[in-house]
Amino acid sequence: MSTLWRQQILPFALTLGLLAAATLAGDFLLHRLNLVWVGRYLGIPGILLIIASLTYSLRKRKYISAGNTRSLLNWHEFGAWLGSLLVLIHAGVHFNTILPWLATIAMSVNVVSGMVGKILLERSRSHVQSQRESYQLRGLSKSEVEQAVYWDSVTLGAMAQWRKVHIPIFIVFAVLTLGHIVSIFLFWGWV
Ligand code: HEM
Repeated sequence: MSTLWRQQILPFALTLGLLAAATLAGDFLLHRLNLVWVGRYLGIPGILLIIASLTYSLRKRKYISAGNTRSLLNWHEFGAWLGSLLVLIHAGVHFNTILPWLATIAMSVNVVSGMVGKILLERSRSHVQSQRESYQLRGLSKSEVEQAVYWDSVTLGAMAQWRKVHIPIFIVFAVLTLGHIVSIFLFWGWV
């Protein structure tokens, strides 16, 4: 139980807690330094960072061939986290319009589902691996090992559930965000 806590639940809570704390600190600083107007523009680097973090998905689906998948995944997690932080500071505490708030909710579900997915992925990978090794040490045949690693299908099932949330919610997020950005750009006379 203590390893589960230390290796999975604690990093999850810390990453999420840090996002919330950094959002509050950023918002506080902008108000304190009379720089609230800066927040209005933070949506731009935020969304650019999120888009740049998607190079991982392009690499994974072989649309691009350059780059190491492992480091691109680290970049995806970090870039999406930092981009979300900027967007959350940008959203601030203004409540005038519903569309960008729906986009913000979708984005938050996206971040949390990505983090849960990462935990499930690591947990199932190491769990299955240690199961395999211990069965092999006990001298079970290959097919017996495969049969014994029943957890494989259970954990993979859980991971499939995660993807079911992460990708459609990303599409909802993208559509809502596009609506928000296009309407702001029209308002600013940028398009
Ligand atoms: C190119 C990127 C973006 C631009 C240029 C932009 C621009 C703006 C502007 C001008 C406002 C009004 C600020 C104010 O009244 O002080 C605003 C508000 C807001 N934006 Fe963005 N934004 C961008 C990206 C995003 C993204 C990606 C999200 C969320 C996923 C988001 C969520 C919000 C929210 C929640 C508000 C507050 C709405 C309210 O006043 O009720 N924005 N944005």
